[in-house]
Amino acid sequence: MPGGPHIPLMAIRKIARMGHPVLKGVAKPVPDPTAPEVKALVRDMIETMIDANGAGLAAPQVYEPWRIVVFQAPPERAPEEIDEAEAFDHTAPLTVLINPEIELLTEEMEKGWEGCLSVPGLRGAVPRYTALRYRGVSLTGERIERVARGFHARVVQHECDHLDGILYPQRMDDLGELIFETEARAWAAARQSAQEAAEETDEEKADA
Ligand code: NI
Repeated sequence: MPGGPHIPLMAIRKIARMGHPVLKGVAKPVPDPTAPEVKALVRDMIETMIDANGAGLAAPQVYEPWRIVVFQAPPERAPEEIDEAEAFDHTAPLTVLINPEIELLTEEMEKGWEGCLSVPGLRGAVPRYTALRYRGVSLTGERIERVARGFHARVVQHECDHLDGILYPQRMDDLGELIFETEARAWAAARQSAQEAAEETDEEKADA
């Protein structure tokens, strides 16, 4: 209806799944982060992410090959034993980051379980850098610069990887740790009894 009223519609978008070429490509920089089309896309991305119960989403996952990510790092994902100042780097409100750049602050990596809306039903243990600084632009064109640690750093690395055509299984060093999420509980239980067995063996060794 050309010339009709412009009604802003939000929509839950279809999510591309592993194997689709849009997930393999390098996404393009956004020339004008404040453009209305960008705002409309981001609105859909946030709606899609929340509907799918995801921690983050990158534009290529909704078939839009642009350098845009949305994510959040809620306080409940931060470790409990850290002080308030440190906790700040571990959390992020719902964030829209356009044309992001990552600067690593450490060589230290840590394994953690990840899932991906483009790899449904699976979980994998993925090594990620534990601290980084990221920069980008918001929807209003403001510069964003933050230090991220822990899960916050992990989700940023995961989402920014999408912009370069990389999915988390490609970052794994042991595909034996790629499992169906329905088996996660069985996996954890098996892990624990293996660990307990190892500890017992250690104790036996200590006694010997
Ligand atoms: Ni993902």
